[in-house]
Amino acid sequence: MSTDIVIPVSAEHSYDVVIGRGLLGHLPRMLEGATRVAIIHPGALVVTAEAMRADLSDHGFEVTMIEVPEAEDQKTAEVAAFCWTALGAAGFTRSDAVVGLGGGATTDLAGFVAATWLRGIRVVQVPTTLLGMVDAAVGGKTGINTDAGKNLVGSFWSPRGVVCDVTALETLPRNDLLAGMAEVVKVGFVRDTSILDDVESEPADATDPSGDLLTDLIRRAVQVKADVVSSDFRETSATMGDGSLGREVLNYGHTFGHAVERRERYRWRHGAAVSVGMVFVAELAGLGGRLSESEVERHRSVLTSLGLPITYPAGHWPELLAAMSVDKKTRGSLLRFVVLNGIGNPGIWAGPDPTFLAAAYDAVSR
Ligand code: GLY
Repeated sequence: MSTDIVIPVSAEHSYDVVIGRGLLGHLPRMLEGATRVAIIHPGALVVTAEAMRADLSDHGFEVTMIEVPEAEDQKTAEVAAFCWTALGAAGFTRSDAVVGLGGGATTDLAGFVAATWLRGIRVVQVPTTLLGMVDAAVGGKTGINTDAGKNLVGSFWSPRGVVCDVTALETLPRNDLLAGMAEVVKVGFVRDTSILDDVESEPADATDPSGDLLTDLIRRAVQVKADVVSSDFRETSATMGDGSLGREVLNYGHTFGHAVERRERYRWRHGAAVSVGMVFVAELAGLGGRLSESEVERHRSVLTSLGLPITYPAGHWPELLAAMSVDKKTRGSLLRFVVLNGIGNPGIWAGPDPTFLAAAYDAVSR
Protein backbone atom coordinates (compact mmCIF):
# COMPACT_ATOMS: atom_id res chain seq x y z
CA MET A 1 0.00 0.00 0.00
CA SER A 2 1.35 3.44 -0.90
CA THR A 3 2.11 5.69 2.06
CA ASP A 4 2.56 8.75 -0.13
CA ILE A 5 0.81 11.85 1.16
CA VAL A 6 -1.31 13.65 -1.45
CA ILE A 7 -2.43 17.24 -0.85
CA PRO A 8 -4.75 18.80 -3.44
CA VAL A 9 -4.47 22.48 -4.40
CA SER A 10 -7.09 24.30 -6.42
CA ALA A 11 -5.97 27.45 -8.20
CA GLU A 12 -6.58 28.22 -11.91
CA HIS A 13 -6.63 24.43 -12.15
CA SER A 14 -6.39 21.66 -9.55
CA TYR A 15 -3.23 19.71 -8.90
CA ASP A 16 -1.67 17.45 -6.30
CA VAL A 17 1.37 17.90 -4.10
CA VAL A 18 2.74 14.40 -3.42
CA ILE A 19 5.06 13.92 -0.42
CA GLY A 20 6.96 10.71 0.29
CA ARG A 21 10.07 8.78 -0.66
CA GLY A 22 11.20 7.71 -4.14
CA LEU A 23 8.40 9.36 -6.10
CA LEU A 24 9.66 9.29 -9.70
CA GLY A 25 6.72 7.04 -10.59
CA HIS A 26 4.26 9.94 -10.23
CA LEU A 27 5.80 11.96 -13.06
CA PRO A 28 4.45 10.10 -16.12
CA ARG A 29 0.86 10.56 -14.85
CA MET A 30 1.42 14.29 -14.24
CA LEU A 31 2.99 14.68 -17.70
CA GLU A 32 0.36 12.66 -19.55
CA GLY A 33 -0.43 14.05 -23.02
CA ALA A 34 3.03 15.59 -23.54
CA THR A 35 5.31 14.28 -26.29
CA ARG A 36 8.36 16.32 -25.25
CA VAL A 37 9.54 17.04 -21.73
CA ALA A 38 12.36 19.42 -20.75
CA ILE A 39 14.09 18.82 -17.42
CA ILE A 40 15.49 22.13 -16.15
CA HIS A 41 18.07 21.40 -13.47
CA PRO A 42 21.31 22.82 -12.01
CA GLY A 43 24.58 20.96 -12.67
CA ALA A 44 24.74 19.66 -9.09
CA LEU A 45 21.65 17.52 -9.78
CA VAL A 46 22.82 15.97 -13.03
CA VAL A 47 22.73 12.41 -11.63
CA THR A 48 19.13 12.75 -10.43
CA ALA A 49 18.20 14.45 -13.69
CA GLU A 50 19.75 11.58 -15.69
CA ALA A 51 17.77 9.01 -13.70
CA MET A 52 14.62 11.02 -14.38
CA ARG A 53 15.49 11.27 -18.08
CA ALA A 54 15.98 7.49 -18.36
CA ASP A 55 12.68 6.80 -16.62
CA LEU A 56 10.70 9.30 -18.71
CA SER A 57 12.33 7.98 -21.93
CA ASP A 58 11.22 4.47 -20.93
CA HIS A 59 7.70 5.86 -20.69
CA GLY A 60 7.96 7.15 -24.27
CA PHE A 61 8.66 10.85 -23.66
CA GLU A 62 11.26 12.71 -25.78
CA VAL A 63 13.40 14.31 -23.09
CA THR A 64 15.50 17.49 -23.42
CA MET A 65 17.96 18.21 -20.62
CA ILE A 66 18.51 21.90 -19.81
CA GLU A 67 21.34 22.48 -17.35
CA VAL A 68 21.30 25.88 -15.65
CA PRO A 69 23.60 27.68 -13.14
CA GLU A 70 23.25 27.18 -9.38
CA ALA A 71 21.09 29.15 -6.95
CA GLU A 72 20.09 32.76 -7.73
CA ASP A 73 22.53 32.88 -10.69
CA GLN A 74 19.98 30.95 -12.75
CA LYS A 75 17.12 33.39 -12.16
CA THR A 76 18.13 35.80 -14.92
CA ALA A 77 16.65 36.91 -18.22
CA GLU A 78 19.72 35.45 -19.95
CA VAL A 79 19.19 31.98 -18.47
CA ALA A 80 15.45 32.13 -19.24
CA ALA A 81 16.36 33.02 -22.86
CA PHE A 82 18.80 30.07 -22.94
CA CYS A 83 15.91 27.79 -21.88
CA TRP A 84 13.54 29.27 -24.50
CA THR A 85 16.19 28.64 -27.16
CA ALA A 86 16.47 24.99 -26.05
CA LEU A 87 12.68 24.56 -26.15
CA GLY A 88 12.58 26.11 -29.62
CA ALA A 89 15.39 23.88 -30.91
CA ALA A 90 13.58 20.77 -29.64
CA GLY A 91 10.28 21.89 -31.20
CA PHE A 92 8.25 22.24 -27.99
CA THR A 93 4.54 22.73 -28.69
CA ARG A 94 1.65 23.78 -26.44
CA SER A 95 1.01 20.19 -25.35
CA ASP A 96 4.61 19.62 -24.20
CA ALA A 97 5.87 20.15 -20.67
CA VAL A 98 8.69 21.37 -18.43
CA VAL A 99 9.95 19.74 -15.23
CA GLY A 100 11.69 21.97 -12.67
CA LEU A 101 14.14 19.84 -10.69
CA GLY A 102 16.01 21.71 -7.95
CA GLY A 103 15.64 24.24 -5.16
CA GLY A 104 13.34 27.24 -5.06
CA ALA A 105 15.42 29.17 -7.59
CA THR A 106 15.09 26.37 -10.15
CA THR A 107 11.36 25.90 -9.63
CA ASP A 108 10.87 29.70 -9.90
CA LEU A 109 12.85 29.75 -13.17
CA ALA A 110 11.29 26.58 -14.64
CA GLY A 111 7.81 27.85 -13.77
CA PHE A 112 8.58 31.18 -15.46
CA VAL A 113 9.96 29.50 -18.59
CA ALA A 114 6.86 27.27 -18.78
CA ALA A 115 4.54 30.24 -18.16
CA THR A 116 6.07 32.24 -21.00
CA TRP A 117 6.76 29.59 -23.68
CA LEU A 118 3.89 29.73 -26.22
CA ARG A 119 2.02 31.79 -23.59
CA GLY A 120 2.07 28.90 -21.18
CA ILE A 121 2.81 25.18 -21.18
CA ARG A 122 2.60 22.66 -18.35
CA VAL A 123 5.18 22.55 -15.59
CA VAL A 124 5.68 19.83 -12.98
CA GLN A 125 7.81 20.88 -10.03
CA VAL A 126 10.22 18.50 -8.30
CA PRO A 127 11.71 20.52 -5.40
CA THR A 128 14.86 19.09 -3.83
CA THR A 129 15.19 21.53 -0.90
CA LEU A 130 12.99 21.98 2.15
CA LEU A 131 12.29 25.60 1.18
CA GLY A 132 11.20 24.44 -2.26
CA MET A 133 8.92 21.75 -0.84
CA VAL A 134 7.09 23.85 1.73
CA ASP A 135 7.04 27.16 -0.10
CA ALA A 136 8.56 27.99 -3.50
CA ALA A 137 7.37 25.03 -5.60
CA VAL A 138 3.80 25.08 -4.29
CA GLY A 139 1.41 27.86 -5.19
CA GLY A 140 2.32 28.97 -8.69
CA LYS A 141 4.48 32.04 -8.07
CA THR A 142 7.18 32.02 -10.75
CA GLY A 143 9.80 34.60 -11.65
CA ILE A 144 13.30 35.82 -12.29
CA ASN A 145 15.46 38.64 -10.90
CA THR A 146 16.41 41.78 -12.81
CA ASP A 147 18.45 44.90 -12.07
CA ALA A 148 15.26 46.40 -10.67
CA GLY A 149 15.07 43.75 -7.93
CA LYS A 150 14.30 40.19 -6.92
CA ASN A 151 11.23 38.41 -8.35
CA LEU A 152 9.88 41.62 -9.90
CA VAL A 153 9.42 39.91 -13.29
CA GLY A 154 7.22 36.85 -13.13
CA SER A 155 3.84 35.31 -13.43
CA PHE A 156 1.28 33.34 -11.47
CA TRP A 157 1.38 29.94 -13.18
CA SER A 158 0.26 26.86 -11.29
CA PRO A 159 2.14 23.60 -11.76
CA ARG A 160 0.37 20.43 -12.95
CA GLY A 161 1.82 18.63 -9.97
CA VAL A 162 4.50 18.91 -7.30
CA VAL A 163 6.59 15.91 -6.26
CA CYS A 164 8.37 16.23 -2.90
CA ASP A 165 10.75 13.31 -2.47
CA VAL A 166 12.04 13.74 1.08
CA THR A 167 15.04 11.46 0.42
CA ALA A 168 16.50 14.49 -1.44
CA LEU A 169 16.80 16.22 1.94
CA GLU A 170 19.26 13.59 3.17
CA THR A 171 21.99 15.09 0.97
CA LEU A 172 20.94 18.72 1.36
CA PRO A 173 23.59 20.88 3.16
CA ARG A 174 22.56 21.29 6.80
CA ASN A 175 22.35 25.09 6.60
CA ASP A 176 19.97 24.87 3.65
CA LEU A 177 17.76 22.45 5.57
CA LEU A 178 17.72 24.75 8.60
CA ALA A 179 16.95 27.78 6.43
CA GLY A 180 13.95 25.88 5.05
CA MET A 181 12.81 25.27 8.63
CA ALA A 182 12.24 29.03 8.98
CA GLU A 183 9.33 28.74 6.52
CA VAL A 184 7.98 25.70 8.39
CA VAL A 185 8.11 27.61 11.68
CA LYS A 186 6.48 30.61 9.99
CA VAL A 187 3.47 28.45 9.19
CA GLY A 188 3.44 27.38 12.85
CA PHE A 189 3.29 30.99 14.04
CA VAL A 190 0.57 32.11 11.65
CA ARG A 191 -1.70 29.07 11.40
CA ASP A 192 -0.83 25.53 12.56
CA THR A 193 0.58 26.02 16.04
CA SER A 194 1.05 22.24 16.47
CA ILE A 195 4.14 22.73 14.29
CA LEU A 196 5.68 24.94 16.99
CA ASP A 197 4.82 22.47 19.74
CA ASP A 198 6.53 19.63 17.87
CA VAL A 199 9.62 21.62 16.92
CA GLU A 200 9.97 22.79 20.52
CA SER A 201 9.68 19.32 22.00
CA GLU A 202 11.78 17.49 19.35
CA PRO A 203 14.13 19.99 17.65
CA ALA A 204 16.61 17.27 16.59
CA ASP A 205 13.93 14.95 15.13
CA ALA A 206 12.27 17.93 13.46
CA THR A 207 15.39 18.43 11.36
CA ASP A 208 16.28 14.77 10.75
CA PRO A 209 15.56 14.03 7.09
CA SER A 210 15.60 10.27 7.66
CA GLY A 211 12.92 10.37 10.37
CA ASP A 212 9.16 10.67 10.16
CA LEU A 213 8.64 13.94 12.05
CA LEU A 214 10.17 16.11 9.33
CA THR A 215 7.94 14.49 6.69
CA ASP A 216 4.93 15.20 8.87
CA LEU A 217 5.99 18.82 9.39
CA ILE A 218 6.32 19.17 5.60
CA ARG A 219 2.81 17.73 5.24
CA ARG A 220 1.36 20.25 7.70
CA ALA A 221 3.21 23.20 6.18
CA VAL A 222 2.15 22.23 2.63
CA GLN A 223 -1.45 21.73 3.80
CA VAL A 224 -1.58 25.31 5.11
CA LYS A 225 0.03 26.64 1.94
CA ALA A 226 -2.44 24.63 -0.18
CA ASP A 227 -5.41 26.00 1.79
CA VAL A 228 -4.18 29.59 1.55
CA VAL A 229 -3.35 29.39 -2.17
CA SER A 230 -6.66 27.66 -2.92
CA SER A 231 -8.58 30.54 -1.38
CA ASP A 232 -6.46 33.48 -2.64
CA PHE A 233 -4.27 32.34 -5.53
CA ARG A 234 -3.36 35.81 -6.81
CA GLU A 235 -2.92 37.42 -3.40
CA THR A 236 -5.71 39.88 -4.11
CA SER A 237 -7.77 39.53 -0.93
CA ALA A 238 -6.85 41.22 2.32
CA THR A 239 -9.28 38.94 4.18
CA MET A 240 -11.33 35.90 3.28
CA GLY A 241 -15.04 35.27 3.95
CA ASP A 242 -14.28 33.73 7.35
CA GLY A 243 -12.19 36.77 8.36
CA SER A 244 -8.84 34.98 7.94
CA LEU A 245 -6.07 36.69 5.98
CA GLY A 246 -5.47 35.90 2.30
CA ARG A 247 -2.17 34.79 0.76
CA GLU A 248 -0.48 37.83 2.26
CA VAL A 249 -0.33 35.87 5.55
CA LEU A 250 2.56 33.86 4.06
CA ASN A 251 4.55 37.09 4.15
CA TYR A 252 5.01 36.83 7.94
CA GLY A 253 8.57 37.95 8.73
CA HIS A 254 9.26 38.69 5.07
CA THR A 255 9.08 42.51 5.00
CA PHE A 256 12.12 42.98 7.24
CA GLY A 257 13.56 39.70 5.88
CA HIS A 258 13.49 40.96 2.29
CA ALA A 259 15.20 44.19 3.41
CA VAL A 260 17.98 42.15 5.05
CA GLU A 261 18.37 40.02 1.90
CA ARG A 262 18.59 43.14 -0.23
CA ARG A 263 21.15 44.78 2.05
CA GLU A 264 23.19 41.57 2.07
CA ARG A 265 23.09 41.46 -1.77
CA TYR A 266 21.23 38.11 -1.52
CA ARG A 267 24.21 36.33 0.06
CA TRP A 268 22.08 35.45 3.12
CA ARG A 269 19.82 32.42 2.76
CA HIS A 270 16.19 33.50 2.40
CA GLY A 271 15.16 31.43 5.43
CA ALA A 272 17.84 33.01 7.62
CA ALA A 273 16.62 36.50 6.69
CA VAL A 274 13.00 35.48 7.34
CA SER A 275 14.06 34.15 10.74
CA VAL A 276 15.38 37.56 11.81
CA GLY A 277 12.36 39.13 10.12
CA MET A 278 9.99 37.13 12.31
CA VAL A 279 11.78 38.30 15.46
CA PHE A 280 11.61 41.91 14.21
CA VAL A 281 7.87 41.73 13.55
CA ALA A 282 7.26 39.89 16.83
CA GLU A 283 9.03 42.74 18.64
CA LEU A 284 6.89 45.20 16.69
CA ALA A 285 3.73 43.35 17.74
CA GLY A 286 4.99 43.34 21.32
CA LEU A 287 5.45 47.12 21.23
CA GLY A 288 1.93 47.47 19.86
CA GLY A 289 0.48 45.38 22.69
CA ARG A 290 -0.47 42.53 20.36
CA LEU A 291 1.98 39.90 21.66
CA SER A 292 3.08 39.28 25.25
CA GLU A 293 6.75 39.30 26.21
CA SER A 294 6.74 35.49 26.46
CA GLU A 295 5.18 35.16 23.00
CA VAL A 296 7.93 37.38 21.56
CA GLU A 297 10.48 35.30 23.43
CA ARG A 298 8.94 32.12 21.98
CA HIS A 299 10.02 33.35 18.55
CA ARG A 300 13.60 33.65 19.74
CA SER A 301 13.69 30.30 21.49
CA VAL A 302 12.19 28.19 18.70
CA LEU A 303 14.36 29.79 16.02
CA THR A 304 17.49 29.52 18.17
CA SER A 305 16.77 25.83 18.83
CA LEU A 306 16.99 25.34 15.06
CA GLY A 307 20.27 27.26 14.81
CA LEU A 308 18.60 30.11 12.93
CA PRO A 309 19.72 33.76 13.36
CA ILE A 310 17.64 36.10 15.51
CA THR A 311 19.74 39.29 15.34
CA TYR A 312 21.02 41.69 12.71
CA PRO A 313 23.86 44.22 13.17
CA ALA A 314 22.96 47.71 14.40
CA GLY A 315 23.54 50.89 12.43
CA HIS A 316 21.67 50.12 9.21
CA TRP A 317 18.17 51.34 9.98
CA PRO A 318 17.80 54.03 7.24
CA GLU A 319 18.90 51.54 4.57
CA LEU A 320 16.64 48.75 5.86
CA LEU A 321 13.67 51.10 6.17
CA ALA A 322 14.21 52.32 2.60
CA ALA A 323 14.38 48.70 1.37
CA MET A 324 11.14 47.83 3.21
CA SER A 325 9.45 50.80 1.58
CA VAL A 326 10.11 49.45 -1.92
CA ASP A 327 9.18 45.85 -1.07
CA LYS A 328 6.64 44.69 -3.63
CA LYS A 329 4.19 43.84 -0.86
CA THR A 330 4.07 47.51 0.18
CA ARG A 331 0.91 49.25 -1.03
CA GLY A 332 1.25 52.93 -1.93
CA SER A 333 3.57 54.51 0.60
CA LEU A 334 2.14 52.66 3.60
CA LEU A 335 4.32 49.96 5.14
CA ARG A 336 2.20 46.86 5.78
CA PHE A 337 3.14 44.10 8.16
CA VAL A 338 1.61 40.73 8.87
CA VAL A 339 1.65 40.75 12.68
CA LEU A 340 0.35 38.33 15.28
CA ASN A 341 -2.43 39.23 17.69
CA GLY A 342 -1.42 36.20 19.75
CA ILE A 343 0.30 33.08 18.39
CA GLY A 344 -1.64 31.58 15.47
CA ASN A 345 -3.81 34.69 15.08
CA PRO A 346 -2.39 36.87 12.28
CA GLY A 347 -3.60 40.30 11.24
CA ILE A 348 -2.36 43.27 9.23
CA TRP A 349 -0.77 46.37 10.74
CA ALA A 350 -0.58 49.09 8.10
CA GLY A 351 1.54 52.16 8.79
CA PRO A 352 2.90 51.49 12.30
CA ASP A 353 4.36 54.49 14.10
CA PRO A 354 7.98 54.97 12.89
CA THR A 355 9.20 55.04 16.49
CA PHE A 356 7.82 51.50 16.99
CA LEU A 357 9.64 50.35 13.85
CA ALA A 358 12.93 51.85 14.98
CA ALA A 359 12.47 50.33 18.45
CA ALA A 360 11.80 46.87 16.95
CA TYR A 361 15.03 47.18 14.96
CA ASP A 362 16.81 48.24 18.11
CA ALA A 363 15.53 45.08 19.81
CA VAL A 364 16.81 42.73 17.07
CA SER A 365 20.13 44.53 16.71
CA ARG A 366 21.04 44.43 20.39
N1 GLY B 1 6.13 32.56 -0.79
C1 GLY B 1 4.92 33.20 -0.48
C2 GLY B 1 3.81 32.86 -1.40
O1 GLY B 1 3.90 31.89 -2.12
O2 GLY B 1 2.83 33.56 -1.43
